[in-house]
Amino acid sequence: MAKSIDVVVVGATGAVGQVMLKVLEERRFPVGRLRLVASARSAGRVVEALGQRVTLEVASPEVFSPGGLALFSAGAGTSQTWCPVAAERGALAVDNSSAWRMDPSVPLVVPEVNSARITPRGIIANPNCSTIQMLVALKPLHDAAGLEQVVVSTYQAISGKGARALEEFELQRAADARGETPNHAVLPGVLSQNLLTDWKHEDSGWAEEELKMIQESRKILELPALRVTPTCVRVPVPNGHSEAVWARFSRPIGRDEALALLGAAPGISLDPRVGPGLHPQPRSFSGRDDVAVGRVRVDPSDPHALAFWVVGDNLRKGAATNAVQIAEHAFGVR
Ligand code: A2P
Repeated sequence: MAKSIDVVVVGATGAVGQVMLKVLEERRFPVGRLRLVASARSAGRVVEALGQRVTLEVASPEVFSPGGLALFSAGAGTSQTWCPVAAERGALAVDNSSAWRMDPSVPLVVPEVNSARITPRGIIANPNCSTIQMLVALKPLHDAAGLEQVVVSTYQAISGKGARALEEFELQRAADARGETPNHAVLPGVLSQNLLTDWKHEDSGWAEEELKMIQESRKILELPALRVTPTCVRVPVPNGHSEAVWARFSRPIGRDEALALLGAAPGISLDPRVGPGLHPQPRSFSGRDDVAVGRVRVDPSDPHALAFWVVGDNLRKGAATNAVQIAEHAFGVR
C-alpha cells in the first residue's frame, strides 16, 4: 500500500501556510489525515484544503501524530512552544520561523545544499527566504571553487511581510494615484514609489534580516568564518525576491565555467541571455518553485569573483516549497 503521512499545518490561514497547502497538493505529498491549526480567532471555522473540508483548531499535543509531519509557519513564539511538543510526540517538525534556526542541535536545511542534515524526526528549521535563494545559487560555485566572501544586496517583495503589508501597499498606491499622502502602519513607511529599509535594527546599525543572512549562510555551508556583507531592502514588488550577489572564490572562475556549473545544478533555472529586460524578473518568476540565476559576470578587477542576479519566489522556495522539500527527503516520498 502507498505510504500516507498525517500532516498538520500550524499557521494554516497565514500567507505561507496557505502556500504550504498548495505546494503539498501540487507535489502530491501523500497526505493522510490533514489537520489545520490557527489562532483561537480562527478556531472552529471550516475551510477547504487539499480537497477536504477541515475545521481549524488551536494547537494541542493531539494534533501531532507519531510518524507524522508538522509544518509550522505561525511565528517564532508558537514554534518555540509547539515544535518540541511535535517532536516529543514522534512527528517531524519543519519550522519556517526563526525560532530554532541558530540552535546548534537543530539542522538548518536547504535541500539543494545540505540534504544530508535532514533527520526523519525532531525539528528541522527552514532558513530565511533571502538566505535560501542565495545559497541555492552559490552552492555549485562553492563546490567547484571554494567560497570565500559574499556581498549581497536584496530587493525583497512585500509578501514576505505578510498579507496585511500587501493590503497596506495597495492603499498607499491608491492614495498616491489620488494625489493624497499615503499612510503606513504595518510597513515602516511609504513603499509606494519608494524603497524601504524594513526589519528591526540593532544599535550596531545592522538589520535583523541582514544578520540572519550572515549567520544562516555560515551555518548551512558549514563555513563559520565566511565573510558575508548583506544590505536588505524592501521594494514595491508584490511577490518574488531579487538579489544582486558578488561572490569571491579561492581560485579564478570564468564565465563559461560558472554558467556550466549553474546550468547543471539542481533547483536552478539559468538564464544566460544578456540584454535590456532579459534578466530573471520577480514578475515572471513569482509562482515558480526553482530559483532563477542570470547576469553572470566575472568581476573585471578580480578574476576570483563573480557578480550575478538571483530571483526566487519568497513564499515558495523561500518558505513553503523548501519546507515541503525537506519533508519529501525526510519521508523518502519523492
Ligand atoms: P490566524 O489566521 O487565526 O491569526 P501570517 O504570517 O500571514 O500573519 O499568518 C500567521 C499564521 O499563524 C496564521 O495562520 C495565524 O492564524 C497563525 N497563528 C497566530 N497565532 C497563533 C497561535 N497562537 N497558535 C496557532 N496559530 C497561530
